[in-house]
Amino acid sequence: MCGIVGYVGDKQAQPMLLSGLKRLEYRGYDSSGMAIILPQKNAVSVRKSPGKIIALEKILKNKPLSGFTGIAHTRWATHGEPNQANAHPHLDCKEEIALVHNGIIENYAKLKHDLIQEGHKFISQTDTEVIVHLIEKFYHNSIPLEEAVRMALAKVEGSFAIGVIAKREPGKLVGARLGSPLVVGVGKNENFLASDVPALLDFVQDVVYLGDGEIATLTKDVVKVAKLDGEPVKIAISRIVWDISQAQKNGWPHFMIKEINEQPKILEGILNQRIRKDTSEIFFEHLDILSAELAATEKINIVACGTAYHAGLCGKYIIEELCRIPVSVDVSSEFRYRDPLIGPDTLTIAVSQSGETADTLAAVREARKKGSKVLAVCNVLGSSLVRESDGVIYTHAGPEIGVASTKAYTAQVAIMYLLGLYLAGVRKSISREKIETYIEIFKTCPQLQREVLKHQESIKAIAHKHSHFGSFLFLGRGINYPSALEGALKLKEISYIPAEGYAAGEMKHGPIALIDEYRAVVCIAPQSKVYEKMVSNIQEIRSRHGTIIAIATEGDDKIKDLTREVIYTPKIDELFSPIIVVLPLQLLAYHIAIKRGCDVDQPRNLAKSVTVE
Ligand code: AGP
Repeated sequence: MCGIVGYVGDKQAQPMLLSGLKRLEYRGYDSSGMAIILPQKNAVSVRKSPGKIIALEKILKNKPLSGFTGIAHTRWATHGEPNQANAHPHLDCKEEIALVHNGIIENYAKLKHDLIQEGHKFISQTDTEVIVHLIEKFYHNSIPLEEAVRMALAKVEGSFAIGVIAKREPGKLVGARLGSPLVVGVGKNENFLASDVPALLDFVQDVVYLGDGEIATLTKDVVKVAKLDGEPVKIAISRIVWDISQAQKNGWPHFMIKEINEQPKILEGILNQRIRKDTSEIFFEHLDILSAELAATEKINIVACGTAYHAGLCGKYIIEELCRIPVSVDVSSEFRYRDPLIGPDTLTIAVSQSGETADTLAAVREARKKGSKVLAVCNVLGSSLVRESDGVIYTHAGPEIGVASTKAYTAQVAIMYLLGLYLAGVRKSISREKIETYIEIFKTCPQLQREVLKHQESIKAIAHKHSHFGSFLFLGRGINYPSALEGALKLKEISYIPAEGYAAGEMKHGPIALIDEYRAVVCIAPQSKVYEKMVSNIQEIRSRHGTIIAIATEGDDKIKDLTREVIYTPKIDELFSPIIVVLPLQLLAYHIAIKRGCDVDQPRNLAKSVTVE
């Protein structure tokens, strides 16, 4: 979704802002812009353009902006189409204040009407423009910019992260947030503002994660934070643990394929960090929910969206099997509005890569209101989800830049195994020996993932051969039913081919009507207690001339008699098979999308983190 970068310092702002913006491209956007205070001319000047950042870069090459304080933005259109007028930054009537905004102002229509009555002139269709006119209204001679911003924000309803600069105070940058993330980057003789940490990776390691309802005032030497009601806030500096190379392609053609290939290393890291070498004990550094409380939990409730929801579904199979606790899984957008039956006896697990997904945050608030403790499974340090939860298990997948989640998914599933095994230990639902056996099996998974990745060329060949199909069905059973859903989601989001994931047992209840020679069916059939059932499904598809791509366990010759297209994965206990079989599904989606000429890292209409409802 939209991205914000701000700079105040002793260097030229334009190159800093451009490089920050480029690091935010992955979030998804359709226009971009920049505003800088020009000290020579005593003016605020804006450049903006619809389309990719390269278009803005061209404009800036012809008409550069020279100054030391500025803001920049990538916009993902909500109110008003992605054109020049609607791109941010927006200016007030006198063109002295510039503002960028992420989020949605819900009462903008009424505010706009009143401001027009008062004589303000609007030039865009955005909800955002009302904020800059409100600031203008309150920004009188003696009032500092941050005060005017506070007064303006008191009038707006909705969610926002904003960056503001004004001609009258050329060395000042103001940022504020409510419901949308904003981070301050703390440097030497310079300070930054960004909606997302990757924008800062080139410049600083120290950051201040702004809390909800906080406002930051930055000069090149000072960072001040206060609540929106004016009460000062003591700032807490955190160190970014990600390094810049993790957010670069490093020779790979796309972030998505780089991230697919990073998975064994990430899984190895998770296992090393979370399992004590000497005792094989599992530990989590920020769990903050007492073992006693975990032991007493009667139900688990998982909330998440998209791919994270599929990881949550895997979690249900894992935790129910290992801990014998009932686990329900909801997509956050449904959970938040259905008055769920949960209370203090329920542990809520919120799974989110970004930690900023609006629906998941709302689901967490709903769960806490009902007395449930919330455990976040999250990839981003200091994110809103982490702040609003009682405990967190970080997935430590590193920055995920590809919009299609791959490594974050396997990291989330890995945490589900660790959590299931940890809870099984706390609750004594299975013996210590059994837990240790599972841990040993789990430790082999990175190597098994590497084995799958060695066969990328043959998976690519199968993908290319089937890239012309107009629709796909993905079937799985048991713990690989979520894998089928994830395989279908991956394919549709990056190749735009209609794809459905189904529990194979449901095939006869509807989807079988679709099967003919024009439909490709991916059957996830590793060795398991439901293997024979999958084989029957494959036979049924075959009799109806469906084209089958099977994912099966090495050594399974029987499946070869049913279809020529088999992707073999190494033998593994059924419980751990999802973390292996998902790799060929990701690779199939990637190579089909590439063959069809799609932009896999930034698929149309999608945003990396969905911070609005
Ligand atoms: C995954 O490929 C998607 N782009 C999307 O479904 C994503 O998983 C979802 O929006 C949830 O995001 P989160 O993990 O940051 O909460």
